[in-house]
Amino acid sequence: MSQQKEYLSDVLIIGSGAAGLSLALQLAEHAKVLVLSKGALREGSTLYAQGGIAAVFDENDSIASHVNDTLIAGAGLCDPQAVQFTAGHAKEAMQWLIRQGVPFDQYRDEDGKMKYHLTREGGHSHRRILHAADATGKAVQITLVDQVRQHPNIQLLEHYHAIDLITNADKSRCLGAYIWSQQARKVEVVRARFVALATGGASKVYLYTSNPDVASGDGIAMAWRAGCRVANMEFNQFHPTSLYHPDAPNFLITEAMRGEGAYLKRPDGSRFMPDFDARAELAPRDVVARAIDYEMKRLGANCVYLDISHQPADFILEHFPTIYAKCLSVGLDITKEPIPVVPAAHYTCGGVLVNLNSQTDVANLYAIGEVACTGLHGANRMASNSLLECIVFAQAAARHIRSQLADAPMADTLPQWDESRVSDSDEEVVITHNWHELRLFMWDYVGIVRTDKRLERALHRAELLKKEIQDYYSHFKVSNNLLELRNLVLVAELIIRSALARKESRGLHYNLDYPFSLKDDETSPTILTPGQ
Ligand code: FAD
Ligand code: SIN
Repeated sequence: MSQQKEYLSDVLIIGSGAAGLSLALQLAEHAKVLVLSKGALREGSTLYAQGGIAAVFDENDSIASHVNDTLIAGAGLCDPQAVQFTAGHAKEAMQWLIRQGVPFDQYRDEDGKMKYHLTREGGHSHRRILHAADATGKAVQITLVDQVRQHPNIQLLEHYHAIDLITNADKSRCLGAYIWSQQARKVEVVRARFVALATGGASKVYLYTSNPDVASGDGIAMAWRAGCRVANMEFNQFHPTSLYHPDAPNFLITEAMRGEGAYLKRPDGSRFMPDFDARAELAPRDVVARAIDYEMKRLGANCVYLDISHQPADFILEHFPTIYAKCLSVGLDITKEPIPVVPAAHYTCGGVLVNLNSQTDVANLYAIGEVACTGLHGANRMASNSLLECIVFAQAAARHIRSQLADAPMADTLPQWDESRVSDSDEEVVITHNWHELRLFMWDYVGIVRTDKRLERALHRAELLKKEIQDYYSHFKVSNNLLELRNLVLVAELIIRSALARKESRGLHYNLDYPFSLKDDETSPTILTPGQ
């Protein structure tokens, strides 16, 4: 067996979105950092975020109000401590981003003073969303990528896929990870004092999603296999408005458009949200997505419509330049006509259970960003709280890692990856077929509206697929698709098991067999433990 390539680093960060890069920058003055990204460094959900980041900047707003709105959206399942912690650190986190150079939109008020423009989104009782037009994520990601590329203490490995974490024998401590170089097509190894998962969410488990391809739940699956508990996996957020057009799949139409006055309409042009909720188009996402799903099914419609064309054209162009250009490229002029939209899987509220230091159950292993379950989102994430969580919890992890650096040991050696019993695959069709089957049954049976029967069917299929994929995995060499599929099928199973465990409807989880919510003190987060 030839010696495999090994990297050594104080901190290995798996993932290069807002969470991973923020952590890297906050540690780099104190430690050698290695950042891994499965695709190009900038690729990930962060790059596509549109609406913005929530933080209290207006003197008429308050942290108490941000906390209260988050708790309401979270439908009784948020951890109040995590909510207070996040809202309380939000301004500091945004000021850090501003110091890195993120160009949030500003305007001059009547006294000639420059102020940040704050937009509004569902569930927020104030204007509190900092944004860079309708491409906030791009502004954040490009700024952070520029910064990490310049830092001498940060080593970047792009197109490297983390396969599994390496722990000691009793899984009490994380020692590093096996990684797969897509270019060399070889498994290599990283030895590190600390490992942070910043791998984003798992929305690619659904057929229709607003997420980029990298969102395949790898971090959740790796953490589970390493012995970490996961929580609240039944709460998948479906964004109400993704563009319905064959030439532009997965393109999101930001909620900020409803914040700036857009109406949701049936195909006949009538508004429907006021029939469902007093907050109409600005009700939280779960309410809006369910209303759209209901109207589409009732009317047999392929989509509903989002209409901002009553606003002046220059206002639309100023606030939504990216969406205007994208829609125009497929022949839709949003200043003149409504936009066809459908819901799409958007955000994984659950994930690897962590504390306020972003620590998981395994020592020296952290999880930050969408991969983690901090308790902030409860049963439903409020718009623009996600990027905020990435930055606040990256800061928390950085503080904690810095405080432990001096005493943290490095493993002397790590076990070699054993490839002696595998060969090149001769049946790629198994992977492509199973990919499609998995995402289709998750969409049909574990989507916006669920029943126990559908969930049981889905569980049965997930278990069969898992066996088949595990068998394939132990006989053939790894590939990107195989690694992602192995993770996604595990994440699917965790979602379904969590959904079956919840005997009520709450937030994003709606089950027709239990169309009621239990009292808040009779329910709790769904926590799954490996081996149980
Ligand atoms: P990502 O940004 O998704 O980064 C994940 C990283 O992990 C990538 O670098 C990927 O390559 C890497 N990775 C994954 N698996 C592996 C592996 N096995 N090995 C190596 N690397 C791996 N939130 C808001 O707060 N405001 C918004 O306006 C907003 N708009 C959104 C719009 C869209 C279209 C989408 C999809 C999401 C939006 N969200 C928004 C949600 C938010 O963007 C994400 O939750 C957030 O960006 C997640 O950041 P992250 O750093 O956790 O993960
Ligand atoms: C959006 O812009 O609608 C997405 C905001 C979010 O997911 O927080």
